[in-house]
Amino acid sequence: MGASNHTDKERQQHDYYATEPKAMELLLAEEQFSPVIWECACGEGHLSKVLEQHGFEVVSTDLIYRGFGDPEPLDFLKESLEDFEGDIITNPPYKYALEFVEQALNSVQPGRKVAMFLKLQFLEGKSRKQFFLHNPPKVVYVSSSRLICAMNGEFSKYPSSAVAYAWFVWEKGFQGDPIIKWIN
Ligand SMILES: C[S@@+](CC[C@H](N)C(=O)[O-])C[C@H]1O[C@@H](n2cnc3c(N)ncnc32)[C@H](O)[C@@H]1O
Repeated sequence: MGASNHTDKERQQHDYYATEPKAMELLLAEEQFSPVIWECACGEGHLSKVLEQHGFEVVSTDLIYRGFGDPEPLDFLKESLEDFEGDIITNPPYKYALEFVEQALNSVQPGRKVAMFLKLQFLEGKSRKQFFLHNPPKVVYVSSSRLICAMNGEFSKYPSSAVAYAWFVWEKGFQGDPIIKWIN
């Protein structure tokens, strides 16, 4: 399927909210990552570009090509990268956040990290509780001041945010009590 055939409506349907790049800077100030990162829902590359600026080798893919990353669409919930040995970092479509976390943990090697920028409310919910009991994140970084995710990447239209976000960081195989830290 040609990526450029997607209409604006389709793009919105695929939950495109660009993350304020500062969010990535805040996480990198706290966490160490593998030199190779897969940004598996890269959008226009707001997270990938910060990672690249910090010297990471970034594999950037998305279901919809938005002019950044691999032009070949990759459905993260159905496909994986062969022999991937790095960490995964993204802000996934929130509708499929749990599926993305599960798939990401299945796609990394033991000891590797999965970092997801998610609404703070991801902490609650019955099915997520069951998931968390078996797959506790190692650290949750709560953004105490509001960071912005702009629909369709239009930051000028969305100068402030009513949503509380956090970085959830898993280390594959970690069993224990998660730590909560406050950033920003
Ligand atoms: C909330 S946006 C975040 C974009 C980017 N990660 C960022 O932080 O700026 C979610 C992205 O997930 C992509 N997406 C939705 N479903 C997907 C799927 N099944 N596989 C890969 N990407 C998907 C959308 O096209 C969109 O670009």
